[in-house]
Amino acid sequence: MLIIEKIGRISGTITVPGDKSISHRAVMLAAISKGKTIVEGFLQGQDCLSTINCFRSMGIDIKQQGQRVEIAGRGLTGLQEPKEVLDAGNSGTTMRLLSGILAGQNFFSVLTGDQSLRQRPMARVIEPLKQMGASISGRQSGQLAPLGISGGGLQGIIWETPVASAQIKSAILLAGLYASGKTTVKEPAISRDHTERMLAAFGIQVEREGTAVTVRPGILEGRHILVPGDISSAAFFMVAAAAKPGSHLVIKDVGLNPTRTGIIDVLRQMGADIEIENLRSFGGEEAGDIIIRGAQLKGIEMQSEIVPRLVDEIPVIAVAAALADGVTYIRGAGELKVKESNRLAVIVSELRKMGVQINELPDGLEINGPNKIRGAAINSYHDHRIAMAMAVCGLFGEGKTTIADSACIDISFPGFGELLRQIAR
Ligand code: S3P
Repeated sequence: MLIIEKIGRISGTITVPGDKSISHRAVMLAAISKGKTIVEGFLQGQDCLSTINCFRSMGIDIKQQGQRVEIAGRGLTGLQEPKEVLDAGNSGTTMRLLSGILAGQNFFSVLTGDQSLRQRPMARVIEPLKQMGASISGRQSGQLAPLGISGGGLQGIIWETPVASAQIKSAILLAGLYASGKTTVKEPAISRDHTERMLAAFGIQVEREGTAVTVRPGILEGRHILVPGDISSAAFFMVAAAAKPGSHLVIKDVGLNPTRTGIIDVLRQMGADIEIENLRSFGGEEAGDIIIRGAQLKGIEMQSEIVPRLVDEIPVIAVAAALADGVTYIRGAGELKVKESNRLAVIVSELRKMGVQINELPDGLEINGPNKIRGAAINSYHDHRIAMAMAVCGLFGEGKTTIADSACIDISFPGFGELLRQIAR
């Protein structure tokens, strides 16, 4: 259990663990490329370790020592039929992206996950992969995992998805590496584009036209990958510092891919004092240092268009809104109902326990601030981002906040509690 008490301010210079999305993709693309790949800055969170274990079960030699991972790629067709069920744990990215790769294999595989992942929608990925020629079945007519996949013989498609989702897009593009002809995915708005960037870096031809992206089959060559810090992890500390007047925090080497930086835009709109320094390139990804000084934040109306650029940051944005002066509206966030937990419902129930005036909207949240926060006994619902967001809220509360089942934080951010202790004054 994590115990949080009220602090005076936030101060210090830190780095956060490697980007989760990039770490997953590095292992996946390395496994199906020719030759060796070395990854540095790899996130040792449970989600990314699930991805490593799945590829080991398919005969890929992966040596992981802390943040350094060495992968001996076996080429596009070098994976072996797994003898056991592949376990994606809590990781939607592992299950959905891996489904795309497995759809291209001439063998049978079964993919499962934990209780939360077995409730998350899979038809959105399975439908396009079936249309490409894979044979896939799952519980409830293919909507839920466990999934059984017999792949091979794929044809390229043009797929228009109604939700902006990097996991859907990536699954189809990865299957496209095994398909005849070209494969195009068109989304309503551009979701995080790490797959496209990394495919290009491994030597694949990728074309973008508006919100559509196209790949053609090709050969991937192993390479060296440096993973920047995860802005979704940095976000917890950004909010803690931004909302606490007198704070001064530097977070170094954070990934600043524009499809991920919505949190910076929203906090600035709320009146936060945030600067970026040392902007540079980490392989094909932008990175830099984020400097935050504390201030009184103000409520805003967040427009739905920005949601894909901050989809994982909404729990902690709700905390910022609870501390801000005025009303905040978050809209276009219906996808949060099908994340690791029903995040809209859980944010409302747990923030209410802490004295926050908050209502659930059909596709978002309405939060009235500023609130006098009080410590409470929080249930994380085994959702890592809920646990961390509520811990941040606890820093502003009178009395003790306890986060039950805080071990789930290791899914994306091992060391969160220690880092928080380092910067809390
Ligand atoms: C991810 C995509 C996002 C995000 C998840 C990681 C990825 O999901 O919520 O934590 O690595 O592709 P969707 O794009 O499906 O919304």
